[in-house]
Amino acid sequence: MPLTTGSDILNAARAGGYGVGAFNTNDMEITQAILEAAESTRSPVLIALSEGALKYGGAILPKLVVELARDATVPVAIHLDHGSSYVSCVRALRLGFTSVMIDQSHEEEEVNVRETARVVEAAHAVGVSVEAEIGRLGGVEEHVVVAEEDAILTKPDEAERFMHASGADYLAVAIGTSHGANKGKGRPYVDIERIRAIAARIANPLVMHGASGVPSSLVRRLNEAGGDLADASGIHEDDVRAAVAEGIAKINTDTDLRLAFTARVREVLRDEPKQFDPRKILGPARDEMRAVVEERMRVFGSAGRA
Ligand code: G3H
Ligand code: 13P
Ligand code: ZN
Repeated sequence: MPLTTGSDILNAARAGGYGVGAFNTNDMEITQAILEAAESTRSPVLIALSEGALKYGGAILPKLVVELARDATVPVAIHLDHGSSYVSCVRALRLGFTSVMIDQSHEEEEVNVRETARVVEAAHAVGVSVEAEIGRLGGVEEHVVVAEEDAILTKPDEAERFMHASGADYLAVAIGTSHGANKGKGRPYVDIERIRAIAARIANPLVMHGASGVPSSLVRRLNEAGGDLADASGIHEDDVRAAVAEGIAKINTDTDLRLAFTARVREVLRDEPKQFDPRKILGPARDEMRAVVEERMRVFGSAGRA
């Protein structure tokens, strides 16, 4: 079926009180894992490509993702994750993406509004929807490094003003989460009250970045198979459910797929020292990632919505 816009998928999610995953891809196996999970759970989905993914995968990666997604029998949007500039977003439009994120959250509000509005004008002209971000997440992105203590949570009144001024379709909010596999000690804090306050002022879908669960079982397996990940922690699935109940409609997940991939590859290489067929190494990793995505789709409530 034709690709779906981000807004079509996410407006239905916010109205229906469920969340939809945006899963990052970097190659064929990850893309297949995401799409197979969406098919098996009958779930709408966004496939996200960062600028780093586009650099890594070269010209073929977006073509491959768009082509595979077009064969899906569930709604799929192809999304630019953390677009750093107007030019980057316009390139994604040309590649056939149906959702773009312009991330100027590190800039002053005035610059963020101006740059987001430029992207909105271009994207809406070709029927593509736009995610923007206000507030700052902790952790590390490829292009943006924000010290944990500098993380600034999204203020509800600023969010409302920003959405009216920029015309963005959905909004990434800083609510205590951070990217990567170390989200804080114990059970990382998610500011559910803040989501409620923002959602009371904004009818648009809200977006949770840094939402990976970092399952301890995967971290243990990865470490037992020779890895060395210390202090790994993620977002508890009850906190994800609570966030969705308050208005989060798009839930970004990358780290959990990276963990699943690496744990399985390490296990195969440890257990089968004579193995050198890439398909026998990457195939099991793909299956492992598919299981993780399926599980998350059930937690988000998107399973059975397509
Ligand atoms: O938010 C960041 C995503 O996990 C993508 O990461 O920029 O390393 O591809 P990346
Ligand atoms: P995680 O690192 O928690 O998977 O978050 C990914 C993300 O927010 C991509 O934009
Ligand atoms: Zn992110």
